[in-house]
Amino acid sequence: MKFFIDTANINEIRRAKELGILDGVTTNPSLVSKIGRPYREVLTEVAKEVDGPVSAEVISIEYDGMVKEARDLAKIRDNINIKIPLIEEGLRAVRTLSSEGIKTNVTLCFNSLQALMAAKAGATYISPFIGRLDDIASEGMEVVDEISTIYANYGFETEIIVASIRNPLHIKHAALIGADIATIPFDVFQKIIKHPLTDIGIARFLEDYKKIPK
Ligand code: E4P
Repeated sequence: MKFFIDTANINEIRRAKELGILDGVTTNPSLVSKIGRPYREVLTEVAKEVDGPVSAEVISIEYDGMVKEARDLAKIRDNINIKIPLIEEGLRAVRTLSSEGIKTNVTLCFNSLQALMAAKAGATYISPFIGRLDDIASEGMEVVDEISTIYANYGFETEIIVASIRNPLHIKHAALIGADIATIPFDVFQKIIKHPLTDIGIARFLEDYKKIPK
């Protein structure tokens, strides 16, 4: 399972890199807006920081605009892939970009039929948004399970990025399903490492070590 970090914050990316488990980065306009610097400047900094794939999202929602923006963003660095929203014009753009060798991450996916359409259009990645589905009392992880089955049934090579992750259980369930990638906010990365019994165990070992004659 690959781990991406879902952030545009360079310090968070560096800290995840230091852990030695970072495979890529996903960003979106909301995440970049938190940085307070120009869009392209932030994406360039992020793309230079990692060797793995970095998702950069288009702002346009029309075919021509999406393709133009995507071609431009793809020039930033060869590890950039283009996030395209899952709408009709977006799927047309994915087909065009895929024929040009530009990788795409089809975003804002909320059901398995949308994911099937994205794979048919030639998407490199599909991003089902699990947390946002859970937020409206819909089972986000069931969508991941269905996509996984459908892609396996037909041998689609589109990789599943489990997105909109809110907590460690989302990652556990994604891993049990066998999802290719989880894109994880930095605070959730920290949560999946920590366990209170580990901390208690360390404290006890250190105390007992003091009792050993020197
Ligand atoms: C994924 O690529 C998105 O950037 C992200 O996971 C969205 O998460 P949110 O629903 O917490 O905004």
